[in-house]
Amino acid sequence: MARAEFFYVGDENTEDVHEYEPGGYHPVLLGDVLPKDSAIQEPRYRVMQKLGSGSFATVWLARDIVGSLGYVALKIGISRVHGINNENRILRWLQDTADEQSSVGSQAVIGLLDDFVIQGPNGTHDCTVTEVLGTMRDFRTTPAFSANRKDISLQLLQGVSYLHEKEVAHADLHLDNLGVSLPQLQDRSEGEIMDHFANPECAAVIARDPRKPTHHLPPYLVDSISIIEYLTETHALSNDMPVRVKIMDFGNAFRNRVERPPPNTPIHIRAPEISLCELSNTQVGGDWDHRVDIWATACTLYEMIRGIEMIYGVGGKSVIYEMVKLAGPLPPSWMAYWDVESFENFRAKHDESAAGNPDGTWARSLNDLFPEEPRRRVLNSKQDTEQFIDLLRKMLKIDPSDRPPIASLLDHPWFTNS
Ligand SMILES: Nc1ncnc2c1ncn2[C@@H]1O[C@H](COP(=O)(O)OP(=O)(O)O)[C@@H](O)[C@H]1O
Ligand SMILES: [Mg+2]
Repeated sequence: MARAEFFYVGDENTEDVHEYEPGGYHPVLLGDVLPKDSAIQEPRYRVMQKLGSGSFATVWLARDIVGSLGYVALKIGISRVHGINNENRILRWLQDTADEQSSVGSQAVIGLLDDFVIQGPNGTHDCTVTEVLGTMRDFRTTPAFSANRKDISLQLLQGVSYLHEKEVAHADLHLDNLGVSLPQLQDRSEGEIMDHFANPECAAVIARDPRKPTHHLPPYLVDSISIIEYLTETHALSNDMPVRVKIMDFGNAFRNRVERPPPNTPIHIRAPEISLCELSNTQVGGDWDHRVDIWATACTLYEMIRGIEMIYGVGGKSVIYEMVKLAGPLPPSWMAYWDVESFENFRAKHDESAAGNPDGTWARSLNDLFPEEPRRRVLNSKQDTEQFIDLLRKMLKIDPSDRPPIASLLDHPWFTNS
């Protein structure tokens, strides 16, 4: 095994230090003001803390020290996607074309406050300025989530429906790309927030090889903070506050085939046609489109409510087993590309037919969501759970042409029955 390149590499709360190289992340210091002073740009956003990171960006809590935006989230993309990333273009287009007729779902999509480009030692980076959200991963564990879970679920579907109405495919709808608005954050003073997060956890970035150039690297990696934790600890989250869901991260989004980026969806929310497209080397499934969002919405809805992923799988082939078990057989034209040998192993192991056994799978799921033991129940009643499962199964169709438009599910009984 190659010897680790760095003495410390941070933890699950920090970004991958190896991505600080040309093409990758921009090194940021807490306290930096971006953009840097130049003939065309005025320095404006002072970085206070780190909010998160993903494969494509680091995201920072910053304060607008020039205008009146207050606290903002500043997303700094990896330079590899500068110019080919649709995020700022699509967010701006959604903003510019929104009007009073826009459906209620437009409010479930994050707004673009500002965007600019910066240069650094690792290249040119697109920056996206948006409101600061609480992440859904954190929020779903709060009492405010439990008190509002149907409304939150409905807002997610309204948001996806709105995107599809605008012919935008998000293509990456998972829990880490969802958040909730936290306008109460703006009432907090900068001093109070900084005191709360004083002495953030940092890992020094020191290459083992003393000859390694350091100008691509930040001097330290810092842990992400949780705004939800902060507001909970300071009693600023209440169960009766109105919750406003926001879909974020449009880094994989597209409006038409020409600008469709390569699929980057995590395995557990990836629609079957994307997996088949990869398995068949684009012989089938290559025309995947916005309907991948319908599948992903079901997976994410399940995870949001249940707290665990609906589909486990380590790779393209094994994950198809899970899909077949949940949603029935593959279309005949796809079967040829599903590895027959492992399929036969699967069948022998599970004693199931090629169609899987979706009814049996969902009967087990019902028991999991609404077990005998009252304290372990996720949903309110057996009927409520059956309706939830019915909603999921409507979206979880293997063949994308069998998936109903999200708009047709907004009055599903699970949303309308209390
Ligand atoms: N507006 C925001 N408010 C709070 N946290 C955010 C915001 N935007 C992103 N984050 C955090 O940063 C992470 C990475 O941002 P994201 O836009 O998903 O980038 P990537 O394209 O790299 O996945 C998110 O999963 C979330 O934890
Ligand atoms: Mg993301």
